[in-house]
Amino acid sequence: MDTLTRATPHTDAADLVAELAGVEDRALTLRWPDGATHRFDAVWLRDNARGDAHRHGGNDQRLFDVADLPADITIAAAEIAADGNLRLTVEPEGLDLVFSPGWLRVNAYDGRSGVGGNEDGEGGAPATWDARLADRLVRHDYAAVTRDPAALYDWLDAIRADGFALMHNVPAEPGMVCRLASLFGFVRETNYGRLFDVRSEARPNNMAFTAAGLGVHTDNPYRDPVPGLQLLHCLAAEEDGGASIVVDGFEAARRLAESAPEDFALLARWRVPFRYRTGTTDLRARRRLIEVDEAGRPIAVAYNNRSIAPLDLPAEVMPAYYRAYRRFSEVLRDPSLAVRFKMGPGDLFVVDNRRVLHGRDGFAGGTRHLQGCYADMDSLLSQLRVMERERGGEGERA
Ligand SMILES: [Fe+2]
Repeated sequence: MDTLTRATPHTDAADLVAELAGVEDRALTLRWPDGATHRFDAVWLRDNARGDAHRHGGNDQRLFDVADLPADITIAAAEIAADGNLRLTVEPEGLDLVFSPGWLRVNAYDGRSGVGGNEDGEGGAPATWDARLADRLVRHDYAAVTRDPAALYDWLDAIRADGFALMHNVPAEPGMVCRLASLFGFVRETNYGRLFDVRSEARPNNMAFTAAGLGVHTDNPYRDPVPGLQLLHCLAAEEDGGASIVVDGFEAARRLAESAPEDFALLARWRVPFRYRTGTTDLRARRRLIEVDEAGRPIAVAYNNRSIAPLDLPAEVMPAYYRAYRRFSEVLRDPSLAVRFKMGPGDLFVVDNRRVLHGRDGFAGGTRHLQGCYADMDSLLSQLRVMERERGGEGERA
């Protein structure tokens, strides 16, 4: 009998007991004390076999490929053993498998929508926000975040939940954006450098490096993959103008879907070209303005009027696409969506660049100086999960 060599990683479900509600050739069903039932396919159970013969003892990575499995796997016998574990034998290998009911409950897949709000299927669609976010905006404190793990957690959790977080009291010294990124992950270096200075320049290679106002946009849609996070840190502010604006692209997409579903569908269907070109650079990527998951919910937005390239959609699609594109742009300009704030020296904000658009008002003088860098969401989410694991009590999908 193959044995569980690795304790179930979750504590909230470890004590769960289950009973066999049914066994068929190619699936079985478990019932838990709360009445919930879940069906597990024989091939899924075989693929998730635990133990040293199937997974590496040190890193828990699977040791076989799905093509190594028999094409037709059936359940020859199954029972809940005295220790509470599900034990079954699958054919044609005659292999014995053991699962804890807690692990199966956490990883059950029927009854789920089958889709999630982000790449790993966690969480479903996030709650969106509009201008009223300003009323509940937490101003995270640099000293607390760097010293207190609970404050660090709250900052990262806000970025995960809202795709935006504002921090105060960051030392107004060059290079601090990179230090902040290192609190949860790694700086993504680009052709703009490890970090970039956002100020009015004499020979700007990007409109960001002028004093002009910038409509709300996501950064670098011409890059593949697009930067997941942007950090912007204020070293010096302008007396007049230069206020920052952020908009939840998921809320804008939701409003578009509600008011003009056919326009939403066009933006979610057709990929359009983006391009950034200088003497030494020619970056191009094709992406959808609204990317949706299997249930049609937004999982990413891309919007940048400066770098969208000449549209090359089929002629019969072009007029309708322009109508949809224009309507999305109008929604993004709606003041009821915008959170506006003026950054002062020491302020820093983070945006989820696949969700939240940012922009700024124009400014007159030459004092305003921000530094920015890119980073990625995966390491931030990883850090949050590790912190949650250390706190204990969270169920974990294997
Ligand atoms: Fe930008």
